[in-house]
Amino acid sequence: MKILNFGSLNLDYTYGVSHIVREGETILAKDVNMNLGGKGFNQSVALSRAGVPVYHAGLVGEEGLDFYDACENFGIKTDYIKTVTGRCGHTIIQVDDEGQNSIVLFGGANQKNSKEYVDEVLKNFEAGDVLLLQNEINELPYIIDQAFAKGMTIILNPSPFDERLEECDLGKVSIFILNETEGQQMTGMTTPTTIVAALDASFANAKIMLTLGKGGSIYHHGDEELYQAAFDVEAVDTTAAGDTFTGFFVAGLLKKMPMRDTLIMATKAAALAVQKKGAAQSIPFMSEVELFNI
Ligand code: RIB
Repeated sequence: MKILNFGSLNLDYTYGVSHIVREGETILAKDVNMNLGGKGFNQSVALSRAGVPVYHAGLVGEEGLDFYDACENFGIKTDYIKTVTGRCGHTIIQVDDEGQNSIVLFGGANQKNSKEYVDEVLKNFEAGDVLLLQNEINELPYIIDQAFAKGMTIILNPSPFDERLEECDLGKVSIFILNETEGQQMTGMTTPTTIVAALDASFANAKIMLTLGKGGSIYHHGDEELYQAAFDVEAVDTTAAGDTFTGFFVAGLLKKMPMRDTLIMATKAAALAVQKKGAAQSIPFMSEVELFNI
């Protein structure tokens, strides 16, 4: 069984600010850092650090060549990453004194996927292989249809949520991993319980993993429902905490760990990530997760 993550690769420009800039306001940033990120890339890093070999597919622009070496260093297979002309995807991230963030995303190369490229990548995968997706690339409906037709298991993190997801046949998704805001956007419901119930009503066969930040997380599938509390840690930067959770959660599923252990592992990994600045570089090694105790 092979794991493919077809996802974004962004250059993250992160600015430390006293507060997230308000409409019409100009503020002085305390510092700025440029790092490699993107929900796709971060989740491949998290999977790899959780001990799961992963193929990453996605497009980088001309200034994104560092991704190849970075992937090799993180143990991510680069066979299907391609360089295209034009700008790489990039973000402008503000991180405030409480570690909360706000992100402006420029799609760049991530929005240049073609059906031919999707076919070129997917021809290397078969029934039983696993596909992880987020919503920072184009051609998601086509990728889902083609992967489903092949018999791949599709895991979707519908993040960031936008109207393009309505074009996807979400009935073909086996596992949804989403946060409370995305849950509200997807279902129109406002509480964790009603979000889970609405998702379950629409996608009865799918596993649902709803993360609630400091409020913990809820896993639901059929008759099984588990709540996991978050660990109380001091956050310096929440960027990529969700990606870290996703990567470790998927790793637990693939390793067929008991669901409670999977939830604890993913929650610990996310708690470690928020205590470090940055996106991919804040994702812990499995050895750190195993040592984490509170
Ligand atoms: O989830 C964090 C990621 O979201 C950042 O790395 C940034 O690239 C945005 O896509």
